[in-house]
Amino acid sequence: MPVTKVLTAGIGEVDLRGIDAYRQRGGYTQWERVVRDLQPVDILNIAEKSGLRGRGGAGFPTGRKWSFLPKDKNVRYLVCNCDEAEPGTFKDHMLLEEAPHLVLEGMLIGAYAIASHHAFIYIRGEFLRGYEIFSAALEQARAAGFVGTNIFGTGFDLEITVHRGAGAYICGEETAMLNSLEGKRGEPRLKPPFPAVEGLYSKPTIVNNVETLAYLVPILERGPEWFAAVGTERSKGYKIVSVSGHVQKPGNYEIALGTPVREIIELAGGLRPGRTLMAVQPGGGSSACIFEEQLDWPYDYESMAKAGSMLGSGAFVVFDDTTDFVNCAYNLVRFFSHESCGQCTPCREGGSWMERVLERLVHARGVPGDYEMLLRIAGSITGLNLCPLGDSIEPFLKSVMLRFPEAFKARIVQTRETANA
Ligand SMILES: Cc1cc2nc3c(=O)[nH]c(=O)nc-3n(C[C@H](O)[C@H](O)[C@H](O)COP(=O)(O)O)c2cc1C
Ligand code: SF4
Repeated sequence: MPVTKVLTAGIGEVDLRGIDAYRQRGGYTQWERVVRDLQPVDILNIAEKSGLRGRGGAGFPTGRKWSFLPKDKNVRYLVCNCDEAEPGTFKDHMLLEEAPHLVLEGMLIGAYAIASHHAFIYIRGEFLRGYEIFSAALEQARAAGFVGTNIFGTGFDLEITVHRGAGAYICGEETAMLNSLEGKRGEPRLKPPFPAVEGLYSKPTIVNNVETLAYLVPILERGPEWFAAVGTERSKGYKIVSVSGHVQKPGNYEIALGTPVREIIELAGGLRPGRTLMAVQPGGGSSACIFEEQLDWPYDYESMAKAGSMLGSGAFVVFDDTTDFVNCAYNLVRFFSHESCGQCTPCREGGSWMERVLERLVHARGVPGDYEMLLRIAGSITGLNLCPLGDSIEPFLKSVMLRFPEAFKARIVQTRETANA
């Protein structure tokens, strides 16, 4: 099976953390070309032509997002989202640690594209090693004159600030991230206004994912047509998929969008001998499962949505017949409930009630009516919250409850009377 290597090229083979090694492979030539020869609008046009969509979760077209910036404001910020706390996602972590200069070059190009002179990178607090590696790469790039003032002697200035998070999943949501960067409590803001209009320090701001920004480098190098020629009609280009769970070779795999789900499982070594596939969670902890009958579906934004799930951040978790789905659902619901910032009642209360019911099912102490009650609560949360975290609590749970009802009902062993005794 063909293995694609674009952002992952060289990772695991050579040490790309040093600026010399990165430059030997053509690193920073696109950045120099951008500053010397291109206008921001040229990069926006290239991004639009390439069909690049955000790799952080929502899949929003990158060029279009940039085009929402007001034309008349001259202070703008770029924020590179490296919070990556979505369960099952570990691609940005890898890029930060193994290809820090690629991430930095992507950030520089992204900032130039939106005519920003100050970009931030928000790094998940737990990524201490990645933070240290990226900070060292930044200093190397600064010493080489690629960051700071009068870059390449052109008079163009661009500063980069590195900010570490403190371990809150919600700070990956773009407006919570902006609050956190401003030193406020990391909780989502009401939208509108959207960050492109009023973001960091009330200035127009673009938040882009690490992988999104990194793809700008090869897109500029090889041309937008090269990227757009791969993938499906609306899901163009490549994507790093973090494959985990019951496969023989879990890890990050870079694929062409539209690759069949079955082939991704095979890329990761397939199932363990003698095991049967039960489900795949294709787009991170927030996504619903897809099942055996969808294994030949293409892995792209549209197909995953049509399958009742989403591609999300590309976290692809495989479950075989040894899975305890009640335990898995409890684990995920507990995570989201714990990470809720508490502003919205359905998210705060719904999450914690589902967690409590699931906890007694895990311990086989369910009471009659629990199955129905769980489904009822799950059905009254989504669409009623300020940010998508609230809508992320139920998709996995509901998908496996409807597919494997007996696994849940088997944990209802007590009567109401014995439960109350
Ligand atoms: C609860 C929550 C957590 C999120 N975590 C991340 C994250 O860790 N990294 C990320 O890039 N986007 C995350 N997002 C999506 C961001 O809000 C935002 O859409 C994304 O950074 C935009 O970048 P993109 O357009 O390049 O995908 C999260 C969203 C929510 C609701
Ligand atoms: S949905 Fe949950 S995490 Fe998001 S703002 Fe509301 S309470 Fe906070």
